[in-house]
Amino acid sequence: MPELIFEKSRPGAGSFTMATGGQDFGGLAPRCPSTLLREKAPALPELPEGEVVRHYVGLSTLNHHVDKDFYPLGSCTMKYNPKINDALALLPGFTALHPEQPEAEAQGALRLLVELGEGLCEVSGMDAVTLQPVAGAHGELTALFMIRAYHEARGHARRKVVIPDSAHGTNPASITMAGYEVVQVKSAPDGCMDLEALKAVLDEDTAAFMITNPNTVGIFERHIVEIIQLVHEAGALCYMDGANLNALLGIVRPGDLGFDIMHINLHKTFSVPHGGGGPGAGPLVVKERMAPYLPGPLPVRKGDAFGWQDAHPQSIGQVHAYFGNFGALVRAHAYLRRLGAQGLRRVAENAIINANYVRAALQDIYRLGFAGTPLHEVVFSAANQKKLGFKASHIAKRLLDFGMHAPTTYFPLIVPEALMVEPTETENRATLDRFIAAMRQIHQECVEGNPLLESAPNLTPVRKLDDVRAVKQPRLRWRPEAAGDASHTA
Ligand SMILES: Cc1ncc(COP(=O)(O)O)c(C=O)c1O
Repeated sequence: MPELIFEKSRPGAGSFTMATGGQDFGGLAPRCPSTLLREKAPALPELPEGEVVRHYVGLSTLNHHVDKDFYPLGSCTMKYNPKINDALALLPGFTALHPEQPEAEAQGALRLLVELGEGLCEVSGMDAVTLQPVAGAHGELTALFMIRAYHEARGHARRKVVIPDSAHGTNPASITMAGYEVVQVKSAPDGCMDLEALKAVLDEDTAAFMITNPNTVGIFERHIVEIIQLVHEAGALCYMDGANLNALLGIVRPGDLGFDIMHINLHKTFSVPHGGGGPGAGPLVVKERMAPYLPGPLPVRKGDAFGWQDAHPQSIGQVHAYFGNFGALVRAHAYLRRLGAQGLRRVAENAIINANYVRAALQDIYRLGFAGTPLHEVVFSAANQKKLGFKASHIAKRLLDFGMHAPTTYFPLIVPEALMVEPTETENRATLDRFIAAMRQIHQECVEGNPLLESAPNLTPVRKLDDVRAVKQPRLRWRPEAAGDASHTA
């Protein structure tokens, strides 16, 4: 591991000097009450500016990221984000805008929000939108509050929300946080919903049915129209978790299928960077009957101009300060405008082709989680390799030695030893071939019992972690007294 900046520190080496009392900085000297002043100087590292810059640039190259190499983390859609979108989000007209700027002075930004909302409605086949939620899970929670408000307005709040057992973890978490009971339905052997099992749990106490489509095993729900019909017949609402929307863009519109409400992870489908802690955005698109419950204020057209409209009296209220993560919304708008209808369709087609290219090239050695043709991601099971003594986690960690990120492991929970690969549409054939070759070599190593699998990752800056200790005793802060204790790495 490289040294921490504290370990590199040399007394007196710092090149930055702070003027002390007595200097007035042209009348701008900080007027801090003496009672609030420190008695002892803080223990900050001391290094010349050049070394500080190199230190942090060095750190930035240690972590894996999508600009470094392949990142097939299933369900997360770690695709390449065009840099032009970042440049647009950084235009001073956007970055210097205050959220309380009068409407007349923020016409460009308001127009962008209105047009992005219209674009998302068009793409999804929905009627109205809120751009406020700042993550997929935040969109889910907002939707569930709206679902509650919808049923309460009809005199019966209802009690439960139904999900398949393949649901992403945030779904049951959001349902519970919204005060609903989670009812889980077992999937059929083909990875899709078991219709009879669904029918058995739908009743007048069901507030909503929540499903990801294509589902979390990458398969399009074959009976989706029938499912939506059944749910509506029970008086419940249909919620689509739109995290996998990049498989449907320009091909299928969830609103046309009959969904009432859906969140979209702009930080997946619409090329907003994520995964490194960057801000995301989880707008909600809804059908007309859900529109009164949307959070406000809403950006709207006012004749030829743009402005804010107060929320409807039945609104659930605001779910984020001001208007959401504006920078993420700028990036998504740029992406949508750049691609247009034809480009969006190509996104979905290429995402599907890439996943199936990987499936076809590896299914002879890695067992498929489910038979059939997946859409934008493919779930393998390392069951064959487990028989040879190596688990999905060995394979995932060994892949890091090839300079690639691991696939998602052990999710979805319904596939034993799951390895979920989402290549995304932005990878070319040469990269996919390199990944396939690495996965085949790793399988061969399993056959031969290669010790590199046990010790992997062997070539990363941080070697194999003790996973249990890393979770139970995380060391999140450097303390001088603990320095030198490297016992969290095995
Ligand atoms: C299917 C699905 N639903 C919901 C989410 C939650 O989205 P977020 O991480 O933006 O909260 C994810 C995230 O990976 C997901 O894959």
